[in-house]
Amino acid sequence: MNGSPRKKQRTEPQESNVTVILGAQWGDEGKGKVVDLLAQTADVVSRCQGGNNAGHTIVVDGVEYDFHLLPSGIIQPNVKSVIGNGVVIHLPQLFDEIEKNEKKGMKNWEERLIISDRAHLVFDFHQAVDGLQEQENNRKGQGLGTTKKGIGPTYSSKATRNGIRVGDLLGDFKIFKEKFTALVGMQQRMFPSLEVDIDEELTRYEKFAAKIKPLVYDTVSLLDKAIRDGKKVLVEGANAAMLDIDFGTYPYVTSSNCTVGGVCTGLGIAPMKIKKVIGVVKAYTTRVGDGPFPTEQINEIGDLMQERGAEFGVTTKRRRRCGWLDVFLLQYTNKINGYTAFCVTKLDILDTLKEVKIAVGYKLNGKKINYMPSTASDLSKVECEYITMPGWQASTENVREFKDLPENAQNYINKIEELVGVPIKWIGVGKGRESIIKIN
Ligand code: GDP
Ligand code: IMO
Ligand code: MG
Repeated sequence: MNGSPRKKQRTEPQESNVTVILGAQWGDEGKGKVVDLLAQTADVVSRCQGGNNAGHTIVVDGVEYDFHLLPSGIIQPNVKSVIGNGVVIHLPQLFDEIEKNEKKGMKNWEERLIISDRAHLVFDFHQAVDGLQEQENNRKGQGLGTTKKGIGPTYSSKATRNGIRVGDLLGDFKIFKEKFTALVGMQQRMFPSLEVDIDEELTRYEKFAAKIKPLVYDTVSLLDKAIRDGKKVLVEGANAAMLDIDFGTYPYVTSSNCTVGGVCTGLGIAPMKIKKVIGVVKAYTTRVGDGPFPTEQINEIGDLMQERGAEFGVTTKRRRRCGWLDVFLLQYTNKINGYTAFCVTKLDILDTLKEVKIAVGYKLNGKKINYMPSTASDLSKVECEYITMPGWQASTENVREFKDLPENAQNYINKIEELVGVPIKWIGVGKGRESIIKIN
């Protein structure tokens, strides 16, 4: 017997237009600049994880903006900016950031900033606990060098299921008060020296509730609709692959998934909707905070990179550690993120070097390995195998076409592309929005 023809179950969505921008090393690769470049033609820019441990810089017409919690795309006057459920938000610092950027020229943010009702809140006491934990770890010689922005303690509260979300702040304030008091009590049992003026905090947060109310939405539906309507959606990764809580150099990592999986869980975007994954790669490597760093150069080469690259943290102003480009590491993060293209930044910083090196393999206990060691102790013992290439010793600052780069600079870029197998579509040669080479 023939059944009736199956009804079409749903309307097929338009082909999605979601592009993800991720840090491929230990952070500060120049993600902000790439987001700014792509946001010029985007409809929505969203953050999926991390908090204000991130510091993303954009330079437009000589004015420098730094973003920590706000998606960098907010600088484009027509782009909607979403702070997703996977982000942890310290409201006082979010509003400070808004005020600072408004003074620099950021416009009509109220109409464009959207905050997920599922995002967790970072409280001052989380930041205090971050500091106390670091102090304790430092005493044992095991400091992580966190940004002390309360990121780890807040994600811990989330995982132990007594964290407080944006939606809780907008609901019945009596319930918020109970949750807040219980959470403070729990932290104080763990850290008896922690002082919290509960009444003062509650008064402050009652005011924040009114302030953020117009900005809060169910961002899952909002993004779903944007994607179905064929809008161009950018996702701005924070931190980076080697700081990922699962795949990074644990425990010297941050507390979220900064690899591509964090995009799906931190925004509620289905994996098949992600069309492009752009890895941002600094032409050398930097790391801020503690932990193993196989290609680190504690010598005049590292100092040169640090000085020419002005390698100071945007969030903590700490000096960044510097070293050669590590392609073995990029091959590893490519396995996880599946980059569809690379943007190589800060090529100009290497302009004066006589020769440049690229790490292409690791040896552990004298034996070549084909995996990324999972323990910090093994990773700190690896020896790098390098290839050495002649430098170009010419300025690349004003170059805007690949063919106009010095031949040795072209060779360096081609070598990275060949070794990782990911096409390089952009090359950064300066801080400004215009200082970029686009390759078709
Ligand atoms: P993010 O965290 O990945 O967004 O990167 P940061 O903003 O923390 O650090 C990158 C730094 O390099 C910023 O000061 C940028 O202005 C700067 N920058 C980005 N791309 C380039 C480039 O191609 N050349 C130079 N010289 N500076 C760049
Ligand atoms: P962007 O987005 C560089 C590092 C910290 C520390 C470790 C844990 O600007 O690339 P946390 O405060 O997150 O618990 O610190 O992670 N770290 C970053 N390093 N860039 C970042 O972000 C970072 N976010 C966290 O220095 O070593
Ligand atoms: Mg940064």
